[in-house]
Amino acid sequence: MLDAQHLTKTYESPSGPLTVLNDVSFSLGRGDSAAIMGPSGSGKSSLLYVVGGLEPPTSGVVRLGVQNPYAMTPAALAAFRNAKVGFVFQDHCLLPQCTVLENVLVPTLVGEVDAAAPERARTLLEHVGLGSRLDHRPAALSGGEKQRVAIARAMIRQPHLLLCDEPTGNLDADSADRVAELLLALHHEQQTVLLVVTHSDALAKRFHKRWHIVRGRLSTGHASPTPPDIEPH
Ligand SMILES: Nc1ncnc2c1ncn2[C@@H]1O[C@H](COP(=O)(O)OP(=O)(O)OP(=O)(O)O)[C@@H](O)[C@H]1O
Ligand SMILES: [Mg+2]
Repeated sequence: MLDAQHLTKTYESPSGPLTVLNDVSFSLGRGDSAAIMGPSGSGKSSLLYVVGGLEPPTSGVVRLGVQNPYAMTPAALAAFRNAKVGFVFQDHCLLPQCTVLENVLVPTLVGEVDAAAPERARTLLEHVGLGSRLDHRPAALSGGEKQRVAIARAMIRQPHLLLCDEPTGNLDADSADRVAELLLALHHEQQTVLLVVTHSDALAKRFHKRWHIVRGRLSTGHASPTPPDIEPH
């Protein structure tokens, strides 16, 4: 389970401190999924980085299971992230010099030797419809295919937490739909906690929860005021 309590994040900038997350709290259990929506610059990517162990909060606590990643040594944190967290970044971040298969295997190259990884990578790539593209380099893939490689790479270590930053942002409606299908199928199979940033209502509707973030404040829906009763005339 992912638990975030009273997270704030303030960046130092030339014009002074900039608070991009403001008292953000939520919990998601195993197999839960949530979409995060909000305007550009509202703090969506920052929130994923903080809960994914990439960027420490200025205050507040993140826990994945019983572990607080920011209480770990840098080496333990890197190992934790590699084993427990899968990231699909806003611009997919594939290594241009590596083939599709090698890109998916990158997270398995650190830590203990994982002899079963190549077979698992092939199976995942079959699953995402890229079984015939194993030797392509990213430049020789379509946008949707790159996105699917990024998803396979995020899933290769069977993470407990999967964080996706606009995974269908650059895709046409049909490809977006296929990528969303795939993401949900993998999420369901592996019972990850899934957090997806998206601007698409159609995609957001497919997750258990839909949350909104505006100027660093997350509303999870529970606090929305009930409209006042209006007496019919
Ligand atoms: N390292 C940094 N230092 C200073 N300011 C930053 C830093 N990273 C992000 N910001 C600022 O924090 C705010 C939130 O950024 P963030 O990337 O989380 O937004 P976002 O909601 O993901 O936006 P988008 O939809 O455009 O991707 C932005 O105004 C951005 O300029
Ligand atoms: Mg962003």
